[in-house]
Amino acid sequence: MAEYKFDTVKVRGGYNSREHNNSVAVPIYATAAYDFDGYDHFNRIRAGAELGYLYTRVANPTVAVLEARVAALDGGVAAIGLASGMAAVSYSILAVTGGNGRILSTKQIYGGSFDLENDLFPSLGVDFDLISHKSSPDEWEANIKEDTKAIFVESISNPGAKLLDIDALAELAHSHGIPLIVDNTFATPYLFRPLEHGADIVVYSATKGLNGHGNAIGGVIVEGKPFAWTEKKFPHFHKRHWVTRDLHDEERSFAEAFAQMPFTAYVRTTLLAYLGAALSPYDAQLILIGLETLSERVSKQIANTRKIIEYLKTREDAVSWISYPELEDSEYKPLANKYFPNGAGTVLTFGFKGNDEQLNKLLKATKIFGYQVNVGDAKSLIVNSPKTTHGELRPHELAEADIRPDTIRLSLGLEDAEDLIADLEQAFSEAGFKTIN
Ligand SMILES: Cc1ncc(COP(=O)(O)O)c(C=O)c1O
Repeated sequence: MAEYKFDTVKVRGGYNSREHNNSVAVPIYATAAYDFDGYDHFNRIRAGAELGYLYTRVANPTVAVLEARVAALDGGVAAIGLASGMAAVSYSILAVTGGNGRILSTKQIYGGSFDLENDLFPSLGVDFDLISHKSSPDEWEANIKEDTKAIFVESISNPGAKLLDIDALAELAHSHGIPLIVDNTFATPYLFRPLEHGADIVVYSATKGLNGHGNAIGGVIVEGKPFAWTEKKFPHFHKRHWVTRDLHDEERSFAEAFAQMPFTAYVRTTLLAYLGAALSPYDAQLILIGLETLSERVSKQIANTRKIIEYLKTREDAVSWISYPELEDSEYKPLANKYFPNGAGTVLTFGFKGNDEQLNKLLKATKIFGYQVNVGDAKSLIVNSPKTTHGELRPHELAEADIRPDTIRLSLGLEDAEDLIADLEQAFSEAGFKTIN
């Protein structure tokens, strides 16, 4: 599909109906296993000498369409669908480290990823150096240690929508022989394609904007053009394994057997095969349906985000600050101009001036904005991040992550902007602020 533009690929990429009984919709291959024409057939598929499927924990035709489509949308070489965004985050880190070493990341990331990096991974032999988004290039560089295996960042951070200079980070990572992994969940490939800015691996929670309808949990890892995985730093891609043996039982390394996509092959053949966070074909189809309207949804959600910001600016009595990278006073405005010409995501945060009681009233009073956590959805949400999506963080960690106690996060959906504004207006009033508009 390389010759087609984004909107064509998002509807048709990775799928040829002629290969699926002319079915116009991508069929759900609800099967655990696949029949083989004898051992030869099985062995050819196993050795990669013939395309085919062995077992749905490792690959499935419905999931494969999603993988091919997201890879094409991002300009990647290959992708792998997984059971959740957290599976995509954790598998990408396990795959790059091979089970030991360090990752350089920031404190301004999704609470689940923060917890994973802070609490679980160190006990599995992978340590993290978490620095601030605002660190200078010198500080970034100073934190790359002998055993650092990758830089991991979010292109638009959760919840604060903080941006980074991805071109510069990719250059820095490469100058140290390590890849840049970007969690592009908030942006989606419609707003930003990290591989075009030097990133090597992209991860998604497909639960969010990729799907956009909040009816499935899923994740995707996309691999860009082959990274130079050196043997010294990444021996696991060079070690010969029985699992990647050829047709004649000669052991091969991932770099040898899958030169174009060693990372994806490693995730599929080891992590997915053994740890098993497989994406269900049912959920893959829901995500594929959601993807068909990605551009249309996100562009209207951006328009709604901008209208809500204009409204919030009129509510200085209840709103102490607004954070969105496009705002004139945002420190991220230059990066928004450079990287996000079509909008800097569909999530914004603001400071609420009320006390705890008023906050509870506000959150209970909204009739359209749901009090829930799934951003990027067609349905708008309002949530107090420090107590919910980032509730895993201790008070000092919240402060270091730049998440103030008064933070309210909005994710804008596809409703009518006037109704959304009226909903906030009546909720502010229920919380004890006068009606203005
Ligand atoms: C930026 C980001 N990455 C990863 C995840 C994890 O995704 P999932 O909930 O699909 O496991 C989330 C979830 O909110 C997220 O916001």
